[in-house]
Amino acid sequence: MTKALVVVTRRPPGSALEAIERAAEMWLWEEDRPIPGDRLAAAIGDAAGLYCMLTDAVDEALLRAAPGLRVVSTMSVGTDHIDLDACTAQGIAVGHTPDVLNETTADTAFALLMAATRRLGEGRDYVRAGEWQRWEPELLLGHDVHGSTLGIIGLGRVGQAIARRGLGFGMRVLYTARRRRPEAEASLGVVYRDLDGLLAESDHVVVATPLTPETTHLIDAAALGRMKPTATLVNISRGGTVDSDALAVALQSGEIAAAGLDVTDPEPIPAGHPLVGLANCFIVPHLGSSSRATRDAMADLAAANLLAGLTGERLPECANPEVYG
Ligand code: GLV
Repeated sequence: MTKALVVVTRRPPGSALEAIERAAEMWLWEEDRPIPGDRLAAAIGDAAGLYCMLTDAVDEALLRAAPGLRVVSTMSVGTDHIDLDACTAQGIAVGHTPDVLNETTADTAFALLMAATRRLGEGRDYVRAGEWQRWEPELLLGHDVHGSTLGIIGLGRVGQAIARRGLGFGMRVLYTARRRRPEAEASLGVVYRDLDGLLAESDHVVVATPLTPETTHLIDAAALGRMKPTATLVNISRGGTVDSDALAVALQSGEIAAAGLDVTDPEPIPAGHPLVGLANCFIVPHLGSSSRATRDAMADLAAANLLAGLTGERLPECANPEVYG
């Protein structure tokens, strides 16, 4: 019996490819960069499965090029690069990788919060520039993280993992979300606020909500204007949730103190972008889930989703469960 064809858009870490190769015929984009859309469209014609990354746009045009596609499996928790409705309409199950990355991504959010709030990037630059001549009583003073009020936008699984870290730092934790989470309020002791209330009351704010039409530019000039001048903004979600131009203005004018960004808009952010040159903006290149163990676990879960979809089984982690009717 001939094996189903799967297209893999990038070599994943760990042993996921071995599992895929045992079960399917595999076409792999071998280059060390995202596959261009036209190359993907050309490769996917006869495929039953697609194993992709968050850098691949899976839109209606691509789906039209893949009439036999049964499953799309992305090695990411985020699915904003995939047209879920179009997949559902075509009976294509979409797999993603929640849970396995919660703790690592929350670690990254906290690392950014600490780095930006305590000015660690500026400290590192100062040492590297040979400027460290003596101890200074007022050198690079930042603000405290411990004991402050943390506002989390989006109390999903990553948001809750961030909340637990905040509580461990003796922080009061506020959250806002599309729907209230009474179970998390009871188990964690986090407190609900509407967005404006959270922005005004929080000493630091972390954005951890998926990118949707409703959350696009949720943090705009008006939202930044509600934050405290001593506040740090951390974005661990998707770059599009924050208006980059408004953020650059707010950081330059001292409307807020600092930002820690794992994600940017545009992404990758060009070296000449105003945010990159700002000393109070600490940017890393979308490293939220980037521990070796977590990326291996994501690659394996994405392979398990793919293989389940090829055999018509329910995906272990399905992002469009309505496809099952
Ligand atoms: C990372 O951003 C992911 O969606 O997994």
